[in-house]
Amino acid sequence: MNCFIIAAITADGYIAQNESQTSFLWTSKEDKKRFIELTKRAGVIVMGSTTYASLPKPLKDRVNIVYSRSKNFEGAETTQDAPAELLKKLETRGFKEVAICGGAHIYSLFMNAKVVNKIFLTIEPLVFGSGIKLFSEESPFKLKLLNMEKTESGTLLLEYEVDYLNPVK
Ligand SMILES: NC(=O)c1ccc[n+]([C@@H]2O[C@H](COP(=O)([O-])OP(=O)(O)OC[C@H]3O[C@@H](n4cnc5c(N)ncnc54)[C@H](OP(=O)(O)O)[C@@H]3O)[C@@H](O)[C@H]2O)c1
Repeated sequence: MNCFIIAAITADGYIAQNESQTSFLWTSKEDKKRFIELTKRAGVIVMGSTTYASLPKPLKDRVNIVYSRSKNFEGAETTQDAPAELLKKLETRGFKEVAICGGAHIYSLFMNAKVVNKIFLTIEPLVFGSGIKLFSEESPFKLKLLNMEKTESGTLLLEYEVDYLNPVK
């Protein structure tokens, strides 16, 4: 099972200015294009309830899975499974790839469960100064840069492989 994180960050490492920021006007068209391509290819997307609640509607042509301890959402399946358990269940349903779409709590949950193979990270050329960081918990892991593309407007589209075997010292 290929499990990848997909996220857009500012140059100072933030994924949002605050929890209630629902607009993605600050991300580039290239980021949105890559997000749609990769998540549709996977066919299943996983989010936390805060992120899902910020969407106007479920993302179409993809199974929407939402982590929540207390809520149910229309158009989505709710789970509290440990990441490895969820991936096993999705594998038995025939999925070969899963897109982990945030926010910070869900990125950390999967990263620290050591089930993430790749990170597709977009760095947009702007800063927030404060806000929600990519990860909500310590996640000291090494990455290997596999691909890098720079757009005309200065967006960086990065693809990393996660190296869980060599700890950060
Ligand atoms: N820039 C980007 O690429 C990007 C991508 C995604 C999101 N975002 C932004 O990130 C922000 C939200 O991030 P966030 O970290 O605050 O929230 P989040 O990760 O989207 O959701 C957190 C919620 O997930 C549920 N949850 C977490 N761990 C769980 C577990 N082990 N079992 C069951 N449920 C669990 C809980 O929901 P309940 O309270 O319902 O139990 C928790 O309140 C928003 O501003 C959003 O716009 C940015």
